[in-house]
Amino acid sequence: MANKSGKKVVVIGTGAVGISYAFAVLNQALCDELVLIDLNEKRVSAEARDLRHGVLYAQSPIKVKQGDYSDCADADIVCICAGVPQKVGETRLDLIDNNLKVYHAVVSEVMKNHFNGIFLVATNPVDVLAYATWKFSGLPAERVIGSGTILDTARLCNCLGKAFGVAPVSVDAHMIGEHGDSVIAAWSTAYIAGVPLKDALDNLGNGAERMAEIHANVRDAAYSIIEGKGATYYGIAMGLARITQAILRNQNVVLTVSALLNGKYNQEDVYIGVPAVLNSDGIARVIEKPLDEQEQAQFEKSANILRGYQEKVAD
Ligand code: LAC
Repeated sequence: MANKSGKKVVVIGTGAVGISYAFAVLNQALCDELVLIDLNEKRVSAEARDLRHGVLYAQSPIKVKQGDYSDCADADIVCICAGVPQKVGETRLDLIDNNLKVYHAVVSEVMKNHFNGIFLVATNPVDVLAYATWKFSGLPAERVIGSGTILDTARLCNCLGKAFGVAPVSVDAHMIGEHGDSVIAAWSTAYIAGVPLKDALDNLGNGAERMAEIHANVRDAAYSIIEGKGATYYGIAMGLARITQAILRNQNVVLTVSALLNGKYNQEDVYIGVPAVLNSDGIARVIEKPLDEQEQAQFEKSANILRGYQEKVAD
């Protein structure tokens, strides 16, 4: 194996999400080598050349190339964006049969090359495909991370920031559960600039209605973007880049990702969106928020939906 110098990220599947993620990784100078893999060789070769031509203006001389599965042998992160995206009228869970086949083939090829880094799963339904990647790869669960509700949380912080007149970074709130129609807003543990949301709501007026509206906007955001432009890719790419930064810079930052639960939130054997501490080892630990009764019931419902689909993943 060529002795790699620096951090190496491999992106498998250079459709809109994969190539947007690659562009984000390049522009944020998150690694030293960026490798693109896709079935469409002509296209991925052109994508790699297009990105490489901009390196002069990047923050660091990152190496960008079209590669193959042998490049996974010494990769720090393999991000899988391969598979079909949602079309108008489809839910994320509707994609499972096709994308499970794709993942079985992709993960097998990666593991044939003795990959021993961290999988970052991006394709939907992301929670079920993160579970599938864990099962197919045999890697420890802390090194199989789904993007989970990282984008839902960003959408929530955008909405709450706008409602309360603060920047999203001054909102401490999480979306948890399925990255999908059963996603939950953890209102009871949300803070606006350090003020508990329930107290901040008093200044808003008709708080309950506004929160229900915000939850629906966040839950259905992808549907409205897909209606307008056919797919979503920039927001998720930035979320994937944030996870990548947390891992490669060993940050111990808390992000809502899809992680395996074995006891926390009173759930077993399910990959689902929860706040987790991320560092160079992957998921260092899951943060168990003190949910209220309604949130806990909603979380249980979301976990049951995902476990039902996880049954399609034959060991
Ligand atoms: C979305 C996709 C990533 O929520 O599921 O935009």
